[in-house]
Amino acid sequence: MTSRSDSNLFSSLTIGSMTLPHRIALAPLTRCRTGADRVPTDLHALYYAQRASAAITITEATQISPMSIGYVGTPGIHTEEQVVGWKRVIDASHTCGGRVFIQLWHVGRLSHPDWLDGATPVSSSAIAPQGAIRDPNGAMVPYVAPRALERDEIQATVRDYANAAKNAMRAGADGVEIHGANGYLIDQFLRDGTNGRTDEYGGSIANRVRFLREVTTAVVDACGPSRVAVRLSPSNRFNQIWDSDPIALFTHVAEVLNEFNLAYLHVLEGVDGAPSAPASDCPRVAPSIRAKYHGILMINGGFDAVTGDAAIRSGAADLVAYGVPFIANPDLPLRYRLDAAITPPQRATWYAQGAEGYTDYAGMRVES
Ligand SMILES: Cc1cc2nc3c(=O)[nH]c(=O)nc-3n(C[C@H](O)[C@H](O)[C@H](O)COP(=O)(O)O)c2cc1C
Repeated sequence: MTSRSDSNLFSSLTIGSMTLPHRIALAPLTRCRTGADRVPTDLHALYYAQRASAAITITEATQISPMSIGYVGTPGIHTEEQVVGWKRVIDASHTCGGRVFIQLWHVGRLSHPDWLDGATPVSSSAIAPQGAIRDPNGAMVPYVAPRALERDEIQATVRDYANAAKNAMRAGADGVEIHGANGYLIDQFLRDGTNGRTDEYGGSIANRVRFLREVTTAVVDACGPSRVAVRLSPSNRFNQIWDSDPIALFTHVAEVLNEFNLAYLHVLEGVDGAPSAPASDCPRVAPSIRAKYHGILMINGGFDAVTGDAAIRSGAADLVAYGVPFIANPDLPLRYRLDAAITPPQRATWYAQGAEGYTDYAGMRVES
């Protein structure tokens, strides 16, 4: 068996008080395995423990409040039971050497009254997504127009992020990743395709970035900067997100985030050919972010052992997150290190219930 011992992916990196043994992070992956209480279970603990060899384990997107919900089986971090559930998950990961960042999530307009006890979903503006969403019974129902958050509600939502971050600390997390990507609430504020506000949270780039800045300030106050990260997806169209000038927008975001000395900034912008590569009419933004951002940069989207190594070697990033490759290869860093076979995942079980396609993928058997 060959080994990639000279790979740049396997150099160590220090972030705050954490020393990472290598540069391979687990990207956040929603797997829809909780019950109606949205409490992580022993099955989650096993799943994350199996993947604890990641340099950083970023959890699946995790709701900060009841108004943040939009999918079946996604966990929260706003009730005591959820904090206790996450503590069990994090203890299990720590026992196996892991370092866990909980991804803090508010779906914004990507919800439905049926998920919200009849309330109207909220967003930066009353701009409805096209198409349909799955309701709690599994049926597809049309999206409704969201309600624009009032200014006092924006402040309450910022407090929800801070409260969720404090809960993550109480659960023993090593950090939190603020989910500013993929068309969810923070992205709905950032982009001019979804933010039509005329107050200080809309219009200019500085105004559209204000909500992210306030959330980051509150979460940093709650946890300390070395335990806080932010995720962005500057060039994808996921969840009908769009901006007229993503380079100007996201380089400004990078400059704003420079003020915080965060654990890392996580940019989802796939390599050419990956589904997460920029849309054909969207420029590549990650290099411009790299040029402006002074802190640790994590990139993600379609990387493998070779392209990830090249990204570190070329200086394009400091860490590489892997999503789909980790689903069926819980010991992915070892496989990359040994240049071993990579198991393809079964797509049908990505968002299913139970252990199948979740915790039943075997680690490598290393023969002595
Ligand atoms: C099943 C699945 C669930 C995902 N859930 C999340 C999520 O909860 N939060 C998030 O920011 N991205 C999520 N993503 C995006 C991944 O983190 C990652 O950006 C994407 O898979 C591209 O990286 P990859 O090519 O290494 O898989 C998800 C992707 C998949 C396939």
